[in-house]
Amino acid sequence: MKVELRIQRFNPEKDSKPHFENYAVECEPTDRVLDAILQVKGVLDGSLTLRKSCAHGICGSDGMQINGRNMLACKVLVKNLKQPIVIEPLKGFKIVKDLVVDMKSFFEKYRSVQPYLQNEDPVPEKERLQSPAERERFDDTTKCILCACCTTACPSFWSDPNYVGPAAIVQAHRFLFDSRDKAKEERLNVLDSREGVWRCRTIFNCSDACPREIDVTRAISEVKRNLLFKKL
Ligand code: SF4
Ligand code: SF4
Ligand code: FES
Repeated sequence: MKVELRIQRFNPEKDSKPHFENYAVECEPTDRVLDAILQVKGVLDGSLTLRKSCAHGICGSDGMQINGRNMLACKVLVKNLKQPIVIEPLKGFKIVKDLVVDMKSFFEKYRSVQPYLQNEDPVPEKERLQSPAERERFDDTTKCILCACCTTACPSFWSDPNYVGPAAIVQAHRFLFDSRDKAKEERLNVLDSREGVWRCRTIFNCSDACPREIDVTRAISEVKRNLLFKKL
């Protein structure tokens, strides 16, 4: 099948602002948008710049806007999309080139919530045990692949780039609700601020955008509830 793509281009060395260019490629109906974009890059214009790695929805590197919605290009089939398929970089970050955005601030916020297990208790002889019910409390948020589709779909983030954003809250949730972790106070201090969870207005864009189907808004509500009632 013939697939028409309309891709936003921006080369900071020669363009003053982004513009769109149109391309047509031959695809199999089972091809994903990433396959179509790679055909453009491989055959029509090698200067097209994008991030991708695994091509299987695991690494989180090819988040982009496809027909106006944040998605992973490797997870969506071309046959299911209206043509021309309009492809733009994630919104709210500075564009480095074409579909590549500067994610430095995104990863700074991620690091600010201390996304790793902390426990200074003496190391037990075997693993630190936890019941199935305790594990279940943070099961959903372990699925996050840091693609930024949620944060860059969030109107609160667009209006305030300092907002820590749903992805960092999801990562904090994963450790806040882990019975083995002992650094809850430090994480909650970061989130209990003007730029923390209270910036969220519960608009649900983040849950809709998540390619891992994480219930992002629910995770944020659980963190808010715990800040209000101090019940972790
Ligand atoms: S629910 Fe909160 S974090 Fe998610 S998109 Fe809405 S305002 Fe942003
Ligand atoms: S919560 Fe979902 S959308 Fe947000 S960064 Fe993680 S995987 Fe991506
Ligand atoms: S390329 Fe890894 S998630 Fe799409």
